Amino acid sequence: KPRALIDPFARAITYLRVSVTDRCDFRCVYCMSEHMSFLPKADLLSLEELDRLCSAFVAKGVTKLRLTGGEPLVRRGIMTLFASLSRHLESGALRELTLTTNASQLDKYAAELKGYGVERINVSLDTLDADKFRAITRWGDLNKVMAGIDAAQTAGLKVKINAVALKGVNEDEIGDMIAWAHGRGMDLTVIEVMPLGEVGEDRLDQYLPLSMLRARLAERFTLDDIDYQTGGPARYVQVKETGGRLGFITPLTHNFCESCNRVRITCTGTLFMCLGQEDAADLRAPLRASESDEALHRAIDAAILRKPKGHDFVIDRRQRRPALARHMSVTGG
Ligand code: GTP
Ligand code: 5AD
Ligand code: SF4
Repeated sequence: KPRALIDPFARAITYLRVSVTDRCDFRCVYCMSEHMSFLPKADLLSLEELDRLCSAFVAKGVTKLRLTGGEPLVRRGIMTLFASLSRHLESGALRELTLTTNASQLDKYAAELKGYGVERINVSLDTLDADKFRAITRWGDLNKVMAGIDAAQTAGLKVKINAVALKGVNEDEIGDMIAWAHGRGMDLTVIEVMPLGEVGEDRLDQYLPLSMLRARLAERFTLDDIDYQTGGPARYVQVKETGGRLGFITPLTHNFCESCNRVRITCTGTLFMCLGQEDAADLRAPLRASESDEALHRAIDAAILRKPKGHDFVIDRRQRRPALARHMSVTGG
């Protein structure tokens, strides 16, 4: 039986995030620059190879699998990957198969996803204002996203909304987003912007520490700490007035690396042990070298032994430091 994944800090790795494409139909200002060069399609792992790679991790104890991008739903044929991975839900090896999406194409796929055993999905949405939405995504159509969310809820998928907190952009709107999301039975998480990749804007101008936002929200809502857990990095409170949950993802102000349970692979089969570090391991070569998974398992084991203690992101005026070169869309967060 393949060895379970335990890192040097005794953390069990049970959550795999898979970026199935680095492409996206939007260009969110905190995620991408306006002009991005994407990987040549020939470099991508095939859907069969992605399945084999994911399955190797499932064999090694991964119970939660999230497909990301870029935008996962722009990868051609992606439903066949969900279809084949759903066998691990049926066998009981996998507890959760899911995705993080911008929802622009979700109306087409929601029902099918539900059929493959997807239960709760995360939708990235930073504003409810159509003009602001176009400005943040550089050209996105909010109506398409809303149609996607409607379709997901109609199909019986639970939806969590992810909003990146952006200074001077949506900070005054988060209260209304809470009321909206909770009114529709959706959790909301707010996220501190992370310095990944050159996006053509100063991160200091974007960054809003969530401690400040939380204090402001506490003037309008009663926030009660709860110990709800999804296996992701958010810390949740219950909002008394709405009865819904609000999560805070705070890599900058409250590092959560100590309880890290995850690694991520890119669409070319590169394994990143930490979102905030450069070190990576190539899994494509061992994947392609042999039909047996032995070399692949060895490569994964060796990489996990190098998993760092955590990231060292900073965004502040004194410690000016360049962002990591890699964009968020390479690893999908
Ligand atoms: P749940 O299953 O709902 O908990 O989802 P999740 O929070 O694990 O996944 P999602 O794709 O919704 O990610 C939300 C945000 O958390 C994104 O901005 C990710 O980049 C960020 N995130 C996820 N994992 C990590 C991590 O290990 N380190 C850091 N710094 N951020 C992370
Ligand atoms: N910092 C924080 N979150 C980001 N996301 C994309 N880029 C960044 C960044 N630089 C978010 C997206 C999506 C999730 C996977 O990551 O909005 O919700
Ligand atoms: Fe696309 Fe998501 Fe990045 Fe926006 S945050 S550009 S929707 S991958």
